[in-house]
Formats: sequence, structure tokens, C-alpha cells
Amino acid sequence: MSRIILAVDPYGDISVDEITKRIDIVKKYIAGVKIGLPLLVRFGMPGVKKIIDVAKDTEHVILDFKLADIAPVMISTIEPFIGTGANEVIAHAFIGLDGALKEFKEYIDEQGLKLILVASMSHPGSTDIMDHVLDKIINVVDKLEPYGIVVPATRPHIIQYVKKKLLSRNIDVKIYSPGIGVQGAKPGSALRAGADYEIIGRSILYSPNPLEAASRIAHIHDEPVSLR
Ligand code: XMP
Repeated sequence: MSRIILAVDPYGDISVDEITKRIDIVKKYIAGVKIGLPLLVRFGMPGVKKIIDVAKDTEHVILDFKLADIAPVMISTIEPFIGTGANEVIAHAFIGLDGALKEFKEYIDEQGLKLILVASMSHPGSTDIMDHVLDKIINVVDKLEPYGIVVPATRPHIIQYVKKKLLSRNIDVKIYSPGIGVQGAKPGSALRAGADYEIIGRSILYSPNPLEAASRIAHIHDEPVSLR
């Protein structure tokens, strides 16, 4: 079973057809794709639909529009994607429940989608604020029961901390971990710390040889936990 979620964020003058081609090439090594806001902004709905179409037969087709707003705005953002084949949606956890995540989660459930909440972020600035309120964020996760949470590979101690808290409170969520490769964490390191998936973008999609990069990382993921 693959543990790679391919982050699809276009840079430079790459075309949507070239991205689609690269996804197709690495598809047998990935568990899913995460479609970022840069893709929507550059290529619009037709571009996003092309990516969804090529990724449809993977397990996770994730819309990552960094949602952090009142519920009606988040719902209105996601509504056009209902029925496209996307099945998971990322929103920020720090925005809280009433008026935001509570109503949004009800909508997501009604539509048969899965919610993933950002608990902590991979960039250094996440330690300024987000990591100080991690326990409060875990309370939001506990109350809302999302399908998954995002916790950074760049700070494995945060993955370990969150994992321990989840286990002690019997909270069953998948951990998605970005920050592998270009942001500095080594492939396999987040899984070793307790994550379920590693979100990896540039070091696969923009590698001179995406197939080789994806297969190399998949093989690391196949190693016993102690060797990764
Ligand atoms: P790279 O190219 O660095 O791409 O492998 C990483 C992907 O992960 C996303 N990212 C995050 N998403 N919380 C998130 O929800 C985070 O802390 C975080 N850090 C990175 C980024 O948008 C890109 O798609």
C-alpha cells in the first residue's frame, strides 16, 4: 500500500497537460494526489478536473484550498467540486467550530466527502503561534472527528506528540505529513514518527525523473520502520 500523497502545485510555465502526464507516469507508486490552490488559480476548474480525472482511480483525491473562513464561504468554495471525483478536503483547524468547522463538517459529511484538518505546519513560522495552541487544536480534532489531520514532517517531535495525544484520547484519525524533500525532511522520516502518509510535491513532480523519484521513495516506505 502506497504512503505517498503527491502534492500538485504548478510552478513556472509548466502546462496542465505536462502535469497530468507526470502524474500518470508515477501513478502506480502513489496513494493519491493533493490539488493545491496554485493549480486552481492558474488553470481554473477545467485544469483541476483534468488532474482529478487522471487521479480518480487513486484512493485520495484531496482538495487543498487552505480553507480558513466562515462556513458558508467554505461550503461555497467546495460546492463546484461535488461529483467531480475529489473525495477529501483540507481546512485549517485553528478557525474553531461554531460558525466555521462545525457546519462545514456537516456539509462535508452530507456530501460523502472526508475532512482533513491542518493541525501544525511545516514552515518554521508555525512554531510562532500554531504549535503553542496544539492542545487546543487537538480538542477541535477530538470534537469534530475529521478523517485526517496534517502534521509536519519537518518537526517529527510534533508528529510524535500529536500521535501520543490521539492514542491517549482514543481519537482515530489519519496523519498526513508534508515537508519531505525540498523542505528538508527525509523520505520515511514522518512515517517513522507515526504519520500514515507523506505529502510530497516538488521532489517527485519536478524531479528530472519523476518515475525514478517516486519509486525510490516508495521503496524507502516499504522498508521496515526501523530502517527508514
Ligand atoms: P513540497 O513540494 O514541499 O510540497 O513537497 C509540499 C506540499 O505540502 C503542502 N504543505 C502543507 N500543507 N500544512 C498543509 O496543509 C502544512 O503545514 C504544509 N506544508 C506544506 C504545500 O502546500 C505543498 O502542496
